[in-house]
Amino acid sequence: MSSLQGKRILLGVTGSIAAYKAAEWVRSLVKEEAMVTVVMTRSAERFVAPLTFSALSGNPVYRDMFADESERVMAHINLSREADVILVAPATAQTIARLSMGLADDLLATVILAARVPVVFCPAMNSNMWAHPATQENIKRLQHFGYHLVHPDSGTLACGDVGDGRLPEWDVARETLLALFEPDDLIGKKVLITAGPTREPLDPVRFLSNRSSGKMGFALARTARRRGAEVTLITGPVSLPDPPCMEVIRVTTAEDMEKMVMSRASAVQVIVKSAAVADFKPAACQVHKIKKTSQGLHLALEKNTDILKKLGENRKHGQILVGFAAESRDHAGEGLRKLQEKNLDLIVVNDILGTQTGFDVETNQVTLIDRKGSAVLPLLTKEDTANRIWDSVVSLLHKRGGDAG
Ligand code: CTP
Repeated sequence: MSSLQGKRILLGVTGSIAAYKAAEWVRSLVKEEAMVTVVMTRSAERFVAPLTFSALSGNPVYRDMFADESERVMAHINLSREADVILVAPATAQTIARLSMGLADDLLATVILAARVPVVFCPAMNSNMWAHPATQENIKRLQHFGYHLVHPDSGTLACGDVGDGRLPEWDVARETLLALFEPDDLIGKKVLITAGPTREPLDPVRFLSNRSSGKMGFALARTARRRGAEVTLITGPVSLPDPPCMEVIRVTTAEDMEKMVMSRASAVQVIVKSAAVADFKPAACQVHKIKKTSQGLHLALEKNTDILKKLGENRKHGQILVGFAAESRDHAGEGLRKLQEKNLDLIVVNDILGTQTGFDVETNQVTLIDRKGSAVLPLLTKEDTANRIWDSVVSLLHKRGGDAG
């Protein structure tokens, strides 16, 4: 399941002004039904009271190596054993330096040294402190030890300076955590995904479009990134925020999408076209608003290029091409026809009439058809559906002997 539900997260909070943001992160984790235990350093307590973290997490906050309450005896060993992952956020230059030296001088440092689970550092500090060669060396050492790093954001810092050093957005840290629980079977693969509808303008205020929300394509992009792929997401107009850690290109018309896709296609090993591209566009876009008349209006439409078909005709050797088919009847027949006509490896057939499938819902129920046969998937979240699509892509890549270049 692509969620942190049920995951045991040990959050180490250290002494930065960004500690207040970590309190928000705890709220988000608890909302997602993760189990959060917080360890604070002494200086973190100067910024946020431990009571805030215990109230938000619903668990006691650990602060002292030498607390003598019986349940806290050997806390450093027990805490690291009981976590699925340790997240240090915000991680100060001081904590990063201590851990790069392997110092075990407080509870958080001993928990991390004793841990055999993944550790993720989210640094937050003044930009000069971040850029200092000492900090950069320390970061390299932490990465060399196998710890994970979420790079700090750029922007205006609490001290007024502008530069790298802000605590990253929760979405970025969350993606890093989720990736720890996914296979890394798309590492080294460049993947191009299209999402959303296109808009074909009629006049300055009107356009032709469709009900696609982009959710399926965005789910494909996030899950591919978690599995290690280098992702380019080309999307039509949707209200979803850019998923982190990938190139996101926003386009409007089918023609824009065609240009972008064709300019990137030869550089990638896998293309998944989940966009609902408009088949037709108005023959001309009026410069001025079309006025109503007493008669009806006849629109002249012309065909857009079928981008997927063009990709199928021009694909490079070894490239995997995945299409979608939005169908209201004869799903298997139409899917197979499009698979063959567009020269695809795999097609994902959507039922657009179902209430829990297709447009603008969180779930999907699809049929996967490749050249060997078909599989009807159960009703799943869009991220779980996306992961099943990637399982099929990975197996096609293996059969093909891996890399296309
Ligand atoms: N597609 C495309 N360019 C178009 C139209 C569709 O690349 N101009 C792609 C979609 O991204 C999808 C696949 O083709 O991956 C199938 O789209 P769909 O709308 O189901 O089928 P069409 O080929 O347009 O056929 P029809 O609308 O007649 O069912």
